[in-house]
Amino acid sequence: MNSFKRTVMLAICAALVVALAAPHFPGANAADKEKKKKDRALDRTRETVKMLDEIYKTAVVLITTHYVNDKDDLPAGTAAIALFEAVGKGGTHQVRLLDASGEPLEDKNTAKDAFEKAAVEKLKAGAAWHEEVIKKDGKRYLRAATPIPVVLKKCVMCHENYADAKKNEPIGALSYTIPIK
Ligand code: HEC
Repeated sequence: MNSFKRTVMLAICAALVVALAAPHFPGANAADKEKKKKDRALDRTRETVKMLDEIYKTAVVLITTHYVNDKDDLPAGTAAIALFEAVGKGGTHQVRLLDASGEPLEDKNTAKDAFEKAAVEKLKAGAAWHEEVIKKDGKRYLRAATPIPVVLKKCVMCHENYADAKKNEPIGALSYTIPIK
């Protein structure tokens, strides 16, 4: 047997050993697959939050543009909070409207827990997104927060302090909690 043939034989033997041994170590493979599956679930959940965020923010801007003309009109923020409470009861996700200006019209709208407080700080520092994956009763949830800038001049009609906000500086945030499935 010349040295070329010997090398080929050795290579074939090595490949056989690897091929025969691999099925005996399924743990690593299964764990990898599980991890990838979980990450895909997390990616999908992020996409869902982005879609909800777009819908909620667009609705608030359109309602304010078309229906809110003076201080006595029902604010889109108030309508959004009523919507969030109703949707929250359905159990698909929770969402809160938060103040990031330091002067909320309603104290209940301030950041409550550690995640929301950290989120407001990060968003005010310029982040477009803040997230955390939590586990509750063995289930995974994505917590995510997105910024709300002073989108319209009309916002200042009721929130006078927004007049001091810098361009694109968030004065509020939406805080989501959604199961990762
Ligand atoms: C007609 C008055 C009015 C207008 C216009 C208005 N808001 Fe509000 N906003 C309110 C009221 C009242 C609340 C408190 C609602 C509640 O807690 O039920 C609120 C709540 C908020 C909150 C939660 C923090 C807080 O201050 O309690 C944010 C953030 C917010 N509004 C942003 C905006 C933005 C952005 C706009 C412009 C698109 C806007 N608002 C326009 C009246 C208004």
